[in-house]
Amino acid sequence: MRLFKTIAGLRADLGGTRPDRDLGLVPTMGALHAGHQSLVERARAENEVVVASIFVNPLQFGPQEDFQQYPRAIERDCQLCEQWGVDVVFAPSAQELGVWGNNTLVIPPAEMLSVLCGPRRPGHFQGVATIVTKLLAIAQPTRAYFGEKDAQQLAIIRRLVRDLNLPVEIRAVAIARDTSGVALSSRNQYLTPVEKEQAPILFRSLQAAKEEFNAGKRETSALLAPAKDKLTASPDVKLDYLEIVDPHTLRPLERIEVEGLVAIAAYLGSTRLIDNLLLRNRKPIIAIDGPAGAGKSTVTRRVARALGFLHLDTGAMYRAVTALVLEAGIDVEDEAAVAELLDSAAIEFRVPNTESGTRVFVGEQDITSTLRSSAITAHVSAVSRLPAVRQMLVAQQRNWGQKGGIVAEGRDIGTRVFPDAELKIFLTASVGERARRRLQDLKAQGEVEIDFERLEQDIQRRDFLDSTRSLSPLRKAPDAIELTTDSLSVEEATQAILALYEQSFVR
Ligand code: PAJ
Repeated sequence: MRLFKTIAGLRADLGGTRPDRDLGLVPTMGALHAGHQSLVERARAENEVVVASIFVNPLQFGPQEDFQQYPRAIERDCQLCEQWGVDVVFAPSAQELGVWGNNTLVIPPAEMLSVLCGPRRPGHFQGVATIVTKLLAIAQPTRAYFGEKDAQQLAIIRRLVRDLNLPVEIRAVAIARDTSGVALSSRNQYLTPVEKEQAPILFRSLQAAKEEFNAGKRETSALLAPAKDKLTASPDVKLDYLEIVDPHTLRPLERIEVEGLVAIAAYLGSTRLIDNLLLRNRKPIIAIDGPAGAGKSTVTRRVARALGFLHLDTGAMYRAVTALVLEAGIDVEDEAAVAELLDSAAIEFRVPNTESGTRVFVGEQDITSTLRSSAITAHVSAVSRLPAVRQMLVAQQRNWGQKGGIVAEGRDIGTRVFPDAELKIFLTASVGERARRRLQDLKAQGEVEIDFERLEQDIQRRDFLDSTRSLSPLRKAPDAIELTTDSLSVEEATQAILALYEQSFVR
C-alpha cells in the first residue's frame, strides 16, 4: 500500500503505474471503523485499484462544531487500510487540496438543503459537495463509495454527479451497526459509558416506524407516532428531528407510496448522532447473471412466471440497439455516431405481462421476433461493448426496477444494474457441460460436422473475453449465490431459485 500526501504523487501513481484500471474511491475523514471497512470491501470487490482518501474537511464544519476535536489517527488508519486491502491512501493537507477561505463552492439545490440536517448545519452540505467534487476531479475514479448512514449526503452527491455530468458511478453501502443496533460513527468515540447505553434508542425508534410500516400504515404521522413516544420516554435523549422524506429528492412525505426514508438526529449530551432506515413498499428484484449457455434465459422466464414477476431480458435490449445500428448503416465501432442515433431513436421496451417477457418496439412496430437474426448475433457483442450503449440501457433497466417485482437476467445485473437487488443468483455450468448443450442445440438445428473440442475452446475463449473486458465484465457479485446447473434440469434449477426466494422473502 502507498500513502500520498500530494496531488502530484497520487496522479503520477494512478496515471503511471495503474493506467486504464477500474478505480474505486472511498472518501473519508479518517478515524476509521467497520462502517468505512464495508465501503472499502465493496470497492475492493468491484475495482482493480482502491483509493481511500482521508481528509478532515474544514469546509463542512460550522463555527460551533467539532472540527478541532474531530478524532485524527492517521497511522492507525493507514494500518487498517492496509489490512482491508486498500492500494493507495490519499491524505493531503488543507493547503495541498487548495481549501481556503474564498474557495469556489459547489452549492446543492436549495430544496435538498431545507430538510433534515440542512437547516441545522448551514454550509455543511456545500462543504461536503465542494470537497467531494474536488476529490472526484483529482482521483477520477470509475466508482465512488458512500455510506447510507449519511443518507442526505448520499442523495446530494448523487444529484451533484448528475447535475455536473461527472463521469463516475456512485455506489451506496448499507449501514454498519454494532450488536446493539447503533450505527457506527467516528463520533461515537465522544460518548460517555452512560450515553453509549442510551444510544440504541435512535435505531429502536426507527424500528418502531418500520413495524408500523410492516403492519400496513403509510401516513407519516401514524408511522412516526410510536417512535416519538419511545423518544419522549427517554428524556436524556434530545431529539433534533425525526422526519420521513423521499430518499432521492429528499422531499418531505406525508405518505409513503413506494419508498420513504425515516431519518433521525438526536443529542446525547453534547454529541449529535444521526441514523436512518429505508421503508420500501416494493416487491423484490431478482438478478440472474452468468455466462452464456448456463440456461439463464429459460430459467429466468420460468422463475418470473412462477412468481408473477416481470421478466426483463436485457439481452433483447442490446439486440434491439444492434438492429437499429445495423439498419441505420452505422459502423458498430463508431461510438459517437451510435450515441447520436440512440438519442433520437424511438426504441421502446415494453413488458406487457409476465408471460411475454421483454417486447421491443420501434415506433408502434413490435420487432422482437427479428432480434435473433444472424446479422444481429454477429454484431451484438461489439455494440454492447460501447459505453454509450451500456449507459443508456442500464438507465432504462434501472427504471424498470423502481417498482420491483422483476426478474432480470444478463451479465452485470447484480453488479451494476441492481447492486441492491434482494436476491442475486450467479447461474453457471462447467465449460464441458455448456459445450455439450451447445452440441445438442446445433444437432437439433441439423448440423452434423461438429468438433466438440473446438466448441469447448470457443466457450473458454468467450468466458475469458467476457470476464476480462474492461466495461461491465462478467463477474459474480460478492453477495450472489452461485448455482451450478451441470447436474440440474431446467425445472430443477428453477425450483432451486424459487426455494431461495422463498427462504428469503416469504414469511
Ligand atoms: P466520514 O464520516 O468519515 O464517512 C466516510 C464514509 O463512510 C461516508 O460515505 C459515510 O456515509 C460512510 N460511513 C460512516 N459510517 C458508516 C456506517 N456505520 N455504515 C456505513 N457507512 C458509513 O462522510 C464523510 O466522512 C465526509 O462527509 C466525506 C464524504 C468524506 C466528505 O468530507
